[in-house]
Amino acid sequence: MLVVENLTKRFGRNAAVDSMNFSVDRPMMLGIIGRSGAGKSTFLRMMNRMTDATQGSLTFEGRDVLTLRGRERRNWQADCAMIFQQFNLVPRMDVVSNVLHGTLNRRSTFATMFNLFPREDIHHAIDILERMGIAEHAAKRAEALSGGQQQRVAIARALMQDPKVILADEPIASLDPMNAQIVMETLRRIHEEDGRMVIANLHTLDTARRYCDRVIGMRDGRIVFDGTPAQLTTGVARDIYGADDSFSEDATSTEIRDAARPALTARAAATA
Ligand SMILES: Nc1ncnc2c1ncn2[C@@H]1O[C@H](COP(=O)(O)OP(=O)(O)OP(=O)(O)O)[C@@H](O)[C@H]1O
Ligand SMILES: [Mg+2]
Repeated sequence: MLVVENLTKRFGRNAAVDSMNFSVDRPMMLGIIGRSGAGKSTFLRMMNRMTDATQGSLTFEGRDVLTLRGRERRNWQADCAMIFQQFNLVPRMDVVSNVLHGTLNRRSTFATMFNLFPREDIHHAIDILERMGIAEHAAKRAEALSGGQQQRVAIARALMQDPKVILADEPIASLDPMNAQIVMETLRRIHEEDGRMVIANLHTLDTARRYCDRVIGMRDGRIVFDGTPAQLTTGVARDIYGADDSFSEDATSTEIRDAARPALTARAAATA
């Protein structure tokens, strides 16, 4: 489904991503972990074609992603929607209009300028907001919502594109534990119910273990771990983070305690 070969991005002499190789054979929830500067965001940006690779290839369902140009490139960007740590909403615009902006890639400049949205798109946006559990906020300005609610608006905007893949760059790094849990559960549900692939850069080990089917660990642009949450032991984590014996998991933990969660982790591990 997804094949990444020798993928490399250099900035001057520094390789932000250094010959990445991996493949994914079915839609899953894939976590990417690693300390700051490991190359996690650079990978997502290459996959989404926000930045060009220096070398290598990335194929999705047979599509040679890195060579797409013009309209084909824009179609691909619609197929792999991105969400960000800082939500990237238009703060003063109402929630439903923010969600409708997920359709921009298929609308005319004229319609965009005058904020003209087809009625069926508006209904669809409301349906998605309902699914995200935030339909009652549809008419509010985005800035009036909590961080967790804003991230769900951003996910709704991504879903408006009906993407095959959702790329999430540290989606919960700005959220408190409660909201972090809601957002991660939302992403998990989208994967399970819609069969969409989710690739999430995560800065905490426990989140990667709890929600992902498979975890890739990066260090200095290279993949140093690729396995199931169960294989992600403290020793392995220490290696990924390049820490010494004083390494403590607490330093990479968001401490979300939930009695229902271990079951999911066990299930995720079993199916990975
Ligand atoms: N536009 C750029 N120009 C020069 N160097 C860059 C650029 N973008 C990223 N880098 C470098 O590439 C490396 C990887 O950066 P990247 O942002 O991918 O890391 P990251 O794993 O996402 O880190 P973080 O956890 O802090 O978000 C870093 O050394 C960074 O300084
Ligand atoms: Mg990053």
